[in-house]
Amino acid sequence: MPKPAEKTVEKLDLKGKKNIKMMVCDEEDKCVVMPVIRASEGPDVLDVTKLYGDTGVFTYDPGFMSTASCESKITYIDGDKGILRHRGYDIQDLAKKSDYLEVSYLLLNGELPDKKQKADFVNNVTRHTMVHEQLSFLYRGFPRRSHPMAIMCGAAASLSAFYHDGLDSRDPASRELSIHRMIAKMPTLSAMAYKYSIGQPFVYPRNDLSFAANFLHMMFAVPAEEYKVSPTLAKAMDMIFILHADHEQNASTSTVRLAASSGANPFACIGAGIASLWGAAHGGANEAVLKMLQEIGDVKNIPDFISRVKDKSAGDRLMGFGHRVYKNYDPRAAVLKSACDDVLAELGAENDPLLKIAKELERIALQDEYFVQRKLFPNVDFYSGIIYKAMGIPTQMYTVLFALARTAGWVAQWKEMIEDPTSKIGRPRQLYTGYTQRDFVPIETR
Ligand code: ACO
Repeated sequence: MPKPAEKTVEKLDLKGKKNIKMMVCDEEDKCVVMPVIRASEGPDVLDVTKLYGDTGVFTYDPGFMSTASCESKITYIDGDKGILRHRGYDIQDLAKKSDYLEVSYLLLNGELPDKKQKADFVNNVTRHTMVHEQLSFLYRGFPRRSHPMAIMCGAAASLSAFYHDGLDSRDPASRELSIHRMIAKMPTLSAMAYKYSIGQPFVYPRNDLSFAANFLHMMFAVPAEEYKVSPTLAKAMDMIFILHADHEQNASTSTVRLAASSGANPFACIGAGIASLWGAAHGGANEAVLKMLQEIGDVKNIPDFISRVKDKSAGDRLMGFGHRVYKNYDPRAAVLKSACDDVLAELGAENDPLLKIAKELERIALQDEYFVQRKLFPNVDFYSGIIYKAMGIPTQMYTVLFALARTAGWVAQWKEMIEDPTSKIGRPRQLYTGYTQRDFVPIETR
């Protein structure tokens, strides 16, 4: 067995090197060698799967700071350079040149569709936009003031009670059916959550409209009069959906994978993903950003707010800033920032005071030593809420829109995992630091 390295290496450069191995050694220089698995791009990984069997120790990595939870070919992020690619295509290109259903196809199948493949996919998804009529009674069981994300957690999972023929995740045809249903029905379920909260009748889907236009129609149409969807808004909505479609192994996607690893049905797994997305550190941040901008209220209050954030004692964070992976400008935020100017101009809302506060907040934060040092940049949630607000979408719906769009990524990651023959049930281990064995004490003597 070779001797372990005497000194620790600050950052390893493994690229282009052959037969790289890593060792864990005890003080008697008894070493275990672990192979390195190559990535096509980004960090290679150390294969620790045999570590426990060989040594009796686990690795410890709460928050997955240094752990790849799976192998995937879907999405690549370089957080230092601010790169996001789906199946090799830059997000900026997809946002500009593609549409949400085409990106969904790409995420699911690995390649952009040809004309026929695209037409078939759009047709297949569109055929499933309606939901079982009985679902409206589920909605009616919720208090009107329910947060729409609370309704969405239940509504998405409840699809498994209605669509039994798509529940066998081992069967490819059944998988495909559930995928089409999930992507198609999320806009319907989302719009229903909104309509229910304001006491308006549910609006049925319209299959003659595009994916995004149909969603806007279900949100804003009423039976009493005709509602024409603005093509500019539909296009902006579609682009926002693309920007949120997938983001590799984030908390909600990992939740979907973990839930699915036990063989749970896809609708239940997406329900779990929605629950995870709801948190303010994840998808819930877009709602929190708007509340924060409204609380700041005026550009002159920004310095005080920034001081409070830096002081930390109040527990405030600059919402929409910072990301576990991006240590550079989130490329999705860059696309959204420029879309913000266009959409707001189109809607005649270019002087929106919240946009002014957001831009000034960003300008000040990006020059402030606190944010520079910690590499905190705007993330995708920083500008999305401002566009949604201009579109007339209520704040509580922001995270629902995120869930709707992320569904493509969730089902693509679910499919990849199910189709990988080496997949196992996810079963993390722990570092136990509790009591060792002790005697039970009867209640009289406690
Ligand atoms: N405002 C102020 N300080 C921050 C912020 C922020 N938004 N984000 C991180 N920091 C600080 C932390 O206090 C910490 O400081 P310290 O080193 O002095 O202790 C340091 O930066 C590192 O922060 P962590 O919380 O350890 O970083 P982590 O990678 O765990 O968190 C997260 C990432 C959760 C996104 C964090 O940046 C955050 O809470 N941001 C605000 C919420 C948000 O916008 N979430 C959306 C994320 S994107 C998405 O899910 C779509």
